[in-house]
Amino acid sequence: MMNHFFSQNLMSAPARIKALQTNAQCRLDKNEQSLDVDNYWKDKAIEALKESNWNRYPNADLSDIETNVAHYCGLDAGNIALSPGSASLITTLLNYLAINGKKIVITHPSYSLFEYHCNTYNIPFIPWMLNENLEFEIENLPALDAQSVLIITSPNNPTGNSIRREQLIEILQNNPETMVVIDGVYTEFANEDFTPLVKEYTNLMVLRSFSKAFPIAGLRLGYLCANEKLAGLVKKLMLPFSINAFTLCFAREVLFSPRFMAESKQKLKEIMAERERMKQAIQSMDPLRKLKVYNSDGNFLLLKVYNETDHSMLLHTLQQKGIQILNTSTFTLLKNTIRVSIGSPQENELFLNFLSTITLCEPTVKSTPNQRYFTLPRALGTNLEKTQLN
Ligand SMILES: Cc1ncc(COP(=O)(O)O)c(C=O)c1O
Repeated sequence: MMNHFFSQNLMSAPARIKALQTNAQCRLDKNEQSLDVDNYWKDKAIEALKESNWNRYPNADLSDIETNVAHYCGLDAGNIALSPGSASLITTLLNYLAINGKKIVITHPSYSLFEYHCNTYNIPFIPWMLNENLEFEIENLPALDAQSVLIITSPNNPTGNSIRREQLIEILQNNPETMVVIDGVYTEFANEDFTPLVKEYTNLMVLRSFSKAFPIAGLRLGYLCANEKLAGLVKKLMLPFSINAFTLCFAREVLFSPRFMAESKQKLKEIMAERERMKQAIQSMDPLRKLKVYNSDGNFLLLKVYNETDHSMLLHTLQQKGIQILNTSTFTLLKNTIRVSIGSPQENELFLNFLSTITLCEPTVKSTPNQRYFTLPRALGTNLEKTQLN
């Protein structure tokens, strides 16, 4: 084995994406949409795919799609650089900036790809730590200069909160030489959209995606928004033909059709309403105050379980019942937390039912003071077994 070619960091890194748990009936761990694209739309894209030449590389002219994307986010076609998912923009930018010796500053805790990629590629970065309430705090911001790149995930994943507009403007105005990259893939679920700021600030890039606000994570389509010059430069860094023929067919035939757009926007509203319903439901089924549920501008909720044993029990229960969530406990500041995506109302209900095994369960202290025993209310236990997904 050519071990001397690979860093210790790379060799000891766990696989980033693990295979799906076989008994998972409910996948609430990746912030995807639960409902798939309707067959009517799939057929349209497949018909177009049949007409396309699979033996050829896709046509390099994507200006029609760029124009539609620009229209969708209020910019001009020249402001857009398309990519196979925003993740590939993240890795391309990190690699380019690191090779060129830039000082990379990343909000922390934040989307795990940043840290994972920097670790496996030996890219040094400086964390911009959130405060203990998981808020962005300018006082904690490391010093920035003309060699710095500041990467801010907002809405942040997995915390769910956003940087405040005035904080972002302050950073942009006080550091006009610093490149600021906003990872804004959850923008559609938030009240604030920072994308139009790229028209005003030449030092700002915003990364966006069709994986979250649209049910097409599997098609891998993302984009960068920046002033025309910057977008043009990033395009030169992207691999040619990396957006495949099928995704291009879908983008041309379906994605921007007024009906599909309207359906997707309606779905978005439903997910946001469901997020708030879930949040309230969690709070009201927690009379013993065992949990904290954070506000979220994303399609997910972050939950803190105050007691470590309760947290382990919850993870165990959810795994047993085939409900996949993300255990976020390994993130800095996020001990005993989980992140759960907003699924269909039925999936959410199932999750709430199992969550109540923790919140409604009175801890009873038996003879050993440090050991806690839990009793599951009988009626609840019976309900749980009855709850099923179709
Ligand atoms: C904050 C954040 N950025 C980027 C991505 C990558 O999204 P995609 O590559 O599907 O556009 C994700 C995926 O979960 C994410 O949470």
